[in-house]
Amino acid sequence: MRREPFPRLDTQADLHARLLGFCRLRAGEVWQDPVRGHRVGVLDAAREEDVGVLMDGQAAQLGIHDPPYNIGVGRRRSPALFRMDIQAYMRFSRAWVFPAVSALDTHAAFYLWLGADQEAGFQPLPEFMLLMREVPGLVSRSFITMRNQRGYGTQKNWMALRQELLYYAKGTPPFHVVYTDIPKTLKGYYKEVGGRKTSNEERGKAGTLRPGNVWGDIQQVFYRREENVPGAYAQKPLAAIERIIRASSSPGRIVSDFFAHSGTSLVAAERLGRKCYTMDIDPVFAEIAIRRLERLRATGKTGWQTENPFPELAG
Ligand SMILES: C[S@@+](CC[C@H](N)C(=O)[O-])C[C@H]1O[C@@H](n2cnc3c(N)ncnc32)[C@H](O)[C@@H]1O
Repeated sequence: MRREPFPRLDTQADLHARLLGFCRLRAGEVWQDPVRGHRVGVLDAAREEDVGVLMDGQAAQLGIHDPPYNIGVGRRRSPALFRMDIQAYMRFSRAWVFPAVSALDTHAAFYLWLGADQEAGFQPLPEFMLLMREVPGLVSRSFITMRNQRGYGTQKNWMALRQELLYYAKGTPPFHVVYTDIPKTLKGYYKEVGGRKTSNEERGKAGTLRPGNVWGDIQQVFYRREENVPGAYAQKPLAAIERIIRASSSPGRIVSDFFAHSGTSLVAAERLGRKCYTMDIDPVFAEIAIRRLERLRATGKTGWQTENPFPELAG
């Protein structure tokens, strides 16, 4: 099996600088998809004007945001996986959260990926939860934990395996029941419905379980998977984003994601018939997101696995 053609881009300043030459967008520009109407910008989520440029007067029915977590992951600290002073991080968070919620429709869902740094008082999760209470019109709906298969800190502490996902509602957005691939094994679980004793098999026709608020069934992205994007350092599994989109949006509607990175939300929206309005402050990741969409359309593949997203680099 080939390894990835290049390393995580956040640790390779020279390579990153070379890739900038292959990017179609400069800061402040937006790519408008001629086929399905997706939009990808090189914009700053913390600038209200930039959010306006991306949204172009439209409102999203679903926002899925995956900002930098303010956690240095194990020993892999880098300019992107950094930990700044919590006050500064919360100023940044406040600057993007309010415009992101304003960019939602009257009835919409808001999902936010976040971490809790066990080496620093579990910041920024509690601070973020308190900030979210200040956002007018939002109500908390679920606190989901996704389990990663690989963790860090195994010898001197419990292995850190979790990713947090907060789910809020504005108005009354749709919520569609979705299922995992895990077969139902529990039989004969009885409950009275309408004065009659019913078994769980009778009550629910689906053969598989619902995900609940702990997602242990989603495979993490790594280089052996087709969806892997070489150079990405924080890619979310497509299955997780597709689960959110299926549950909390309707076909044809807009999904916003202000931290595109590898373009997972863009690819998921394309596969599920939604429109994605997304941005990244880094032109290289905006370019990667657009190329990933183009590759999906050309080949049906969800990523590059170990191939090179920038073949023009060869030689
Ligand atoms: C955690 S990653 C998102 C991962 C993404 N969900 C995926 O599956 O690939 C965070 C991304 O946010 C971008 N970013 C950081 N600050 C930003 C800002 N102020 N505005 C827009 N994007 C930003 C980074 O360049 C990085 O690509």
